[in-house]
Amino acid sequence: MSHCNWENCNYTKNKLIMNICFVTSEFAPYAKVGGLADVSSALPAALQRAGHKIRLIVPYYRDLKVSEELTEPIEELANITIDAGPEKLTFHGYRCPYPQTQDPADGPELILIKCDELFDRKGIYGDSSDEFLRFLLLSRAGIEICQRFQWAPDIFHCNDWQTALIPLLLRSVYDWDGLFNDSRTVLTIHNIGHQGGFPARILPYLNLFGYEHLLHQDDLKDGLINFLKTGIMYADTITTVSPTYATQIQTSGYGVGLENELLTRQHDLHGILNGIDNLEWNPKTDALIPFQFSVDDLRPKLENKQHLLTEMGVDGDISAPTLGIVSRLTSQKGFDLMFDVVPELLQRRDLRLVVLGSGQQKYVDFFSELRRQYPDKVGFYHGFSNEVAHLVEAGSDMFLMPSQYEPCGLNQMYSQAYGTVPIVRKTGGLADTVQQYDPQTGDGTGFVFEHFTSTGLRWAINFALDVFEDPRQWQQVVVNGMQKDFSWRTPAEQYSKLYAQTLQHT
Ligand code: ADP
Ligand code: GLC
Repeated sequence: MSHCNWENCNYTKNKLIMNICFVTSEFAPYAKVGGLADVSSALPAALQRAGHKIRLIVPYYRDLKVSEELTEPIEELANITIDAGPEKLTFHGYRCPYPQTQDPADGPELILIKCDELFDRKGIYGDSSDEFLRFLLLSRAGIEICQRFQWAPDIFHCNDWQTALIPLLLRSVYDWDGLFNDSRTVLTIHNIGHQGGFPARILPYLNLFGYEHLLHQDDLKDGLINFLKTGIMYADTITTVSPTYATQIQTSGYGVGLENELLTRQHDLHGILNGIDNLEWNPKTDALIPFQFSVDDLRPKLENKQHLLTEMGVDGDISAPTLGIVSRLTSQKGFDLMFDVVPELLQRRDLRLVVLGSGQQKYVDFFSELRRQYPDKVGFYHGFSNEVAHLVEAGSDMFLMPSQYEPCGLNQMYSQAYGTVPIVRKTGGLADTVQQYDPQTGDGTGFVFEHFTSTGLRWAINFALDVFEDPRQWQQVVVNGMQKDFSWRTPAEQYSKLYAQTLQHT
């Protein structure tokens, strides 16, 4: 790939306008497992508002939450077949309206990849032996679509392991196509805990004829191909979703075996904090909660609290502090710390705990058992519900997120926007977005503990519960959080600058 020809780039109001192909495995609200979905719809919309031209490529999953009539096949993208070694895969591109922007006509162009063989199945991710092939197809489809449109993106923006092979594919399978001579790649790591590690026997499917040497040779000898590691090796720029996590993943404690690759690329690794989508997560306009509210009128928040307690089937005394949780139930989120602390707190203090989540059985059992033992105090909605997520954010007083590690985390930001005070561990994006409350100065937006121990969590919850007893102080910490700006404007500017720098890579 050669140097960017700056003379061919468009300038509007002195800003560099770029073509960006954003390829991702999740997209809110149509296909969501976690925060990647939220980021994949809000960031491209913010970039488009900043003037860039975005094409977004997402799989057409069976469970896509969009009515079929809204999607239409794109003529130029009919029956595209790719060779994946022993397999020939055919996909079709479908156009679909963009959900997040006020005027969908102005939104990025959203293209769904329909390949029933790989995506017409239950769920978004799975553990079948062709999981690698599903996202290899997505990655190749991102590139093939650009070819059909004869559209040369300045930037291919890849996200997590699912699309991390794109930089390698551009250097190998698509190396022949001069269309991409000036294209550059950005890989965002949303969670280094998931790397897409597969047995080396998948090699023929990658179609790398003559380029196998570009794979990590020691891994290959050990019989492995790691998609995320390959992306780290070949992306022009690597980002992750908070500055603290960017530092942490270069260490053995957080790098999950990729710390050395990241250290090698440290000058190309940047931490950009996620934003929140102000159209979706805004207590003034939120249509999913019964009572809208703002920092100037907090009374309706109490009505939401009453409604939440009733919906969760717990005692509706709104003077008792209510702690909320909305989460994938995985060890990442720090639930192990709750095993000792939460039962003991429920015994000692008058509080309510409302939990929305699904995931690992041991945590499902834990919250089910708490519900059984303390039916007046604990509500547990086992499942996935965007509506309940909004209600928990709006109706709780505090939000519990004691993560073991957290690349960014969105719920602690949604919480602050909704006047729900976060109790978090000082790690990753939680450290960058929640400031410890200081009763002396009245500064701070939450309660933060440092070490991943039950003692730390117990201390932080008790601190929060004590401050809650003083309404004047509590009001202060609530207002501090609500006044913060978590919008995507600044992160979108940071991505724009980084894209421009990336274009200068030779
Ligand atoms: P992660 O991506 O690691 O799960 P984030 O905090 O970045 O964590 O994002 C999680 C997103 O998923 C948030 O939008 C949160 O509201 C949503 N979410 C998680 N679990 C559920 C659930 N059970 N029901 C509805 N939304 C959920
Ligand atoms: C990942 C992380 C989470 C982050 C989200 C969006 O799922 O676990 O911390 O907020 O991606 O970037």
